[in-house]
Amino acid sequence: MRLTPEQHAQFERDGYLFFPGRFSPEETRVLTDAVPALYARREAYNVREKGSDAVRTNFAAHLYSEPFAKLARHPRMIEPVEDLFGERLYMHQFKINGKMAFEGDVWQWHQDYGTWKNDDLMPTERAMNVAIFLDDVNEFNGPLMFIPGSHRRGVIDAQHDLTTTSYPLWTVDHALIAALVERAGGRGRFEPDGRYVPGGIVSPKGPAGSMILFHSCLVHASTSNLSPWNRVSVYLSLCAVSNHIRRFKRPEFIAHRVFDPITCLPDDCLLKDYPVDLPWKDGMPGSALVTSSAAIDDEQKAA
Ligand code: SIN
Ligand code: MN
Repeated sequence: MRLTPEQHAQFERDGYLFFPGRFSPEETRVLTDAVPALYARREAYNVREKGSDAVRTNFAAHLYSEPFAKLARHPRMIEPVEDLFGERLYMHQFKINGKMAFEGDVWQWHQDYGTWKNDDLMPTERAMNVAIFLDDVNEFNGPLMFIPGSHRRGVIDAQHDLTTTSYPLWTVDHALIAALVERAGGRGRFEPDGRYVPGGIVSPKGPAGSMILFHSCLVHASTSNLSPWNRVSVYLSLCAVSNHIRRFKRPEFIAHRVFDPITCLPDDCLLKDYPVDLPWKDGMPGSALVTSSAAIDDEQKAA
């Protein structure tokens, strides 16, 4: 599944590609139906919102849930990124973000690569996010916001925000965000007929099953969800194998330590039976919680 030359050019220019309705309602339902049981588990891999029981992020479900293990090997998610990098990929991070009705909290402006570089010593930005919506995403339930073209700035200054939400993040300060937005087209404009034409902030919205692929240096954020509708989305963070992380400072359920290339399943895998390995099916190994601030060399990398 190769991208067209136009899609390559669009990705270079904007830093993201949007694929509305990439997965059918039937395929999406297989995933959505599995979420409540995963979110109900009292495990370290379920990070809850500050002061609330609502799950903000569930990590690593591809290692203990069959539908998500299949999604993690789905050619519609993996192959476009392989095409862009010209290299095989491993799973650096896998998360199911809740952004639950009324309770889903903000994600401050950030670049994902800022965190992967600072915390995990990922050598370069050759890693990418691919998101799939498990709920319809509209203007009310906290859609992702991007500053188009901001990936071309490379890595920008960030501060470690340990307090705003329940999850630590390297975030970008507001003066810099204002300058980036201005440069990307400012506040946009309204046509005489009332139609809004976006400028320096865009937010792809669409039905459940839609997919977004975005560069690890693209600056993004999302507001809280005050609507009565959940906005559950899955994020695969795919890293070129040669660009694997060099430090295990964060637990393994957040930053993975197995760098084997992903082998895709057939395109119909969500609707048919295919065997998948579920190494954490009976629980997360204790070693997944062991962390170290030392840099690793190639001999030490996990098998
Ligand atoms: C993220 O930036 O990693 C998540 C943002 C969101 O789910 O809104
Ligand atoms: Mn992010």
